[in-house]
Amino acid sequence: MSRPYRFALIGCGFFAQNHLQAWAEMPDVELVATCDINPDSAAAAAETFGGTPYTDAAELFAKEEFDFVDIATTPPTHRMMVELAAQHKVAAICQKPLAWDIDDAQAMVRAMADADLPFMVHENFRFQYPMRKVKEVLDSGVIGRPFFGRISFRTAHDVYSAQPWCMDAERMIIADVSVHQFDLTRFFLGEPDRLFTEAIRVNPKIKGEDVATIVLGLPGATCIVDTSYESSSDHSTYPQTFVTIEGTDGTVTLGPDYHLQVVSPAGVHEEQLVIPEHSWASEPWNCIQDSVVNVQHHWIHCLETGQTPETSGADTLRVLDLTLGAYQSLDTGEPYRVGSML
Ligand SMILES: NC(=O)c1ccc[n+]([C@@H]2O[C@H](COP(=O)([O-])OP(=O)(O)OC[C@H]3O[C@@H](n4cnc5c(N)ncnc54)[C@H](O)[C@@H]3O)[C@@H](O)[C@H]2O)c1
Repeated sequence: MSRPYRFALIGCGFFAQNHLQAWAEMPDVELVATCDINPDSAAAAAETFGGTPYTDAAELFAKEEFDFVDIATTPPTHRMMVELAAQHKVAAICQKPLAWDIDDAQAMVRAMADADLPFMVHENFRFQYPMRKVKEVLDSGVIGRPFFGRISFRTAHDVYSAQPWCMDAERMIIADVSVHQFDLTRFFLGEPDRLFTEAIRVNPKIKGEDVATIVLGLPGATCIVDTSYESSSDHSTYPQTFVTIEGTDGTVTLGPDYHLQVVSPAGVHEEQLVIPEHSWASEPWNCIQDSVVNVQHHWIHCLETGQTPETSGADTLRVLDLTLGAYQSLDTGEPYRVGSML
C-alpha cells in the first residue's frame, strides 16, 4: 500500500540525518527523492532511506511529483527552495533560521500564501518533550501569572567540527541558538515588545559572536535569553536548555538532565523527565532528536487536518524579527522596538 504523503528532502548534511531517521519511522510518509549539491551526500541518503538522488533542486522539482518538500540546507538557499516549492505547488517545511533577511523571509511567506500552500518552519525547541511539560505547568495556572523568565543554553561543546559553517558565519550564536530561545520565550510568555542585546566573541578562531545575552521586555514580564558556546563546567549538559519561569504563585524550573521542579501553593513537585526513546537516537542528542520526530508529526497532522502549523512561516516572521532585532541592538547599542522590521 502506498503511503499518503510523498516528499523530497533537500540538503542531506549534518542535521538532515535526524530528519531522515525521523521520517523513516513514520508510517504515513514516503521519501521519493533526495537532493544535495554534493552528489555523495544525496546518493548516501537515497541509498539508506530511499528515493532518487538529485544534485539540482530545480531538476528535482521539474521531474518528480511529491506533496511536500523538507528543506534542510543552510539559510542562504532557503528562499530559492521555498520559491521553487511555491512555483510547483508543493507544501514546504524549512529549517531555521528562515533567512538572514526579513525581506527574503517575507517573500517566502508571501509566495507560499499566494499559492495557498502549507508552510512551516522546523523550529524544534518548543517541540522538545521537556518544553511541552513546562508549557503544561504554565497552562495549568499553578504558578499564577508569569512575570519573569530565563532561558539558558551554555556549553563548551565543540560545535564546529560537525558544523564548520558556524566558524565563518558573521552572525553566529544568536542566529544559531538564541533564535530557538526567542521562540521559547514566545511559547512560554507571549510576544515581547522590546529587547536589548549584549554579545561578544570569545573564540578568536571564529568570525561571529559566540556568547550572547538578550533581555526581552513583555507586557508585565521580563525574560533573559543567554547563550554561549564557550562555557566550561564540570558536567557537560550539551545540548540541554534550562528554563526558569517565575509566576505570582510559584516557579517552574527545568534544570540539568531534564529535572523539572514546580514550586506552587500545593507544595514542591519534583520530576525526573524521561525523553521518549528512538532506536536511532543517542545521548546527548536524544532530546533534540525526539523533538524532530515531534515536529514532523505536527507537520503531517497539519497536512491531514488543514490546521495552521504552530511554527508557520508567518508566525516565524516574529522570531526572525526578534533575531534580526537582537543584531540591530548589538550594532547600535540601543534597545530594539520589536516588530519595527515587520
Ligand atoms: N533545529 C535544529 O536543532 C538545528 C540543528 C542544526 C542545524 N540546524 C539548521 O539546519 C540547517 C542545515 O544545517 P547543517 O548544520 O545540517 O548544515 P550542513 O552544511 O551540514 O548541511 C547543509 C547541506 O545542504 C547542502 N546544500 C547547500 N546548498 C545546496 C543547494 N543549493 N542545493 C542542494 N543542497 C545544498 C550542502 O551540501 C549540505 O550537505 C541550517 O539552517 C541550520 O541552522 C537546525
